[in-house]
Amino acid sequence: MTDRTLRLGVNIDHVATVRNARGSTYPDPLRAAKLAEEAGADGITAHLREDRRHISDADIDGLMEVLTVPLNLEMAATAEMQAIALRHRPHAVCIVPEKREERTTEGGLEVAGDESRLADFIAPLREAGCRVSMFVAAERAQIEASARIGAAVVELHTGAYCDFHAEGRVAARDEELDRLREMAALAADLGLEVHAGHGLTYDTVQPVAAIPQIRELNIGHFLIGEAIFRGLKDAIAEMRRLMDEARG
Ligand code: PXP
Repeated sequence: MTDRTLRLGVNIDHVATVRNARGSTYPDPLRAAKLAEEAGADGITAHLREDRRHISDADIDGLMEVLTVPLNLEMAATAEMQAIALRHRPHAVCIVPEKREERTTEGGLEVAGDESRLADFIAPLREAGCRVSMFVAAERAQIEASARIGAAVVELHTGAYCDFHAEGRVAARDEELDRLREMAALAADLGLEVHAGHGLTYDTVQPVAAIPQIRELNIGHFLIGEAIFRGLKDAIAEMRRLMDEARG
């Protein structure tokens, strides 16, 4: 592989979480998105959840208007979300599992067990020109199914790897990292573009960034938290530096 580019997609959901905590108009996720662009983000990611707990429909309207970098719209595979995506036609759509009661996207999407429904679901999005991604655990069955249904991308869920790291379970973390490496290679062999994300921090990003098949990382919660201490631009610039160092 000669192209070693690794893009950074900055997820701005939790700017909206803070805004919504007080039902105010600030902090403004659009302002955060523009700052992220200035700091070197290659794309902006936003998850329009069914319960609208953070990003709102108006935020998506605004992002489509103001962004100069691509928008990656994360969404569940529902008719409502499909209609919204088809109305906006963002650069990318990432299909994620969604449960109302979860605090965050807890596991990967079950593609293998829901292949024909998901194939039908993504077909109009592909026809509309959206780059469709499936957010999956590092599991062979999910990756092979994603390739069969015509997804362009798989985003590998790094949550388990990050949780093991945080819990000090080094052997489990390293096993999960091996799985991520193996599954990134498999996905690339199947012709899928490979992304990764969820739970990544300054401490965990480099081994993932070093996986050569991975072209994009999507990172949000840690960066928005770190922005409290060092400012958003600086928080993003440091993540970018660590990614480049790992890639170098
Ligand atoms: N990728 C996907 C598909 C996600 O659902 C999320 C969380 O919304 C992320 C990446 C970013 O995760 P985090 O906010 O933990 O960095």
